[in-house]
Amino acid sequence: MKKIVVGVTGASGTIYAIDLLKKLRLIPDVETHLVMSAWAKKNLALETDYTLDQIKALADVVYSDRDQGAAIASGSFLNDGMVIVPASMKTVAGIAYGFGDNLVARAADVTIKEQRKLVIVPRETPLSVIHLENLTKLAKLGAQIIPPIPAFYNQPRTIQDLVDHQTMKVLDAFGIHEQTAKRWEGD
Ligand SMILES: Cc1cc2nc3c(=O)[nH]c(=O)nc-3n(C[C@H](O)[C@H](O)[C@H](O)COP(=O)(O)O)c2cc1C
Repeated sequence: MKKIVVGVTGASGTIYAIDLLKKLRLIPDVETHLVMSAWAKKNLALETDYTLDQIKALADVVYSDRDQGAAIASGSFLNDGMVIVPASMKTVAGIAYGFGDNLVARAADVTIKEQRKLVIVPRETPLSVIHLENLTKLAKLGAQIIPPIPAFYNQPRTIQDLVDHQTMKVLDAFGIHEQTAKRWEGD
């Protein structure tokens, strides 16, 4: 059983988190542990038709972002890594400086100290030097930075096509190789 921690923050793109959780739910030997920041919940309502209960129902275990005593706040809870999708620049900064003021940032801090896989899907544009330096620091620490930058070689037609491709990249990072979008196989 693979255990994946999914952190969702208040950057634009909550749809990416929903899509990832939906796809992980279809994989029998994956258990998802979901934590959403306060602003992730706000953006869920602003950007999607999903209710909080609906997104929570996609995960196996759900934590409050205020619960610093949760299992995922400790290194002794064994898991296969964490993805933060989408990741706000505020959360990226918090992680880069070890400032675990909520459970998303604390779980990421633990993921780094335990040297487990950390995947960050940062969303902001334009990116300032502060953002780029924080992301660079996290990449140097071993985090995999997978920004939601669409590719067009697979000729996407819908928003879902774009989201599928992004989710495929995140799943690939966890060694889950689903054919959820068209891969480039040479011309
Ligand atoms: C509609 C909306 C869209 C936002 N989009 C972004 C974004 O794309 N990137 C970002 O870094 N912050 C964005 N923000 C700001 C964050 O939500 C804000 O910095 C918040 O404090 C992040 O907190 P969190 O990381 O704990 O969720 C957005 C806020 C709103 C209301």
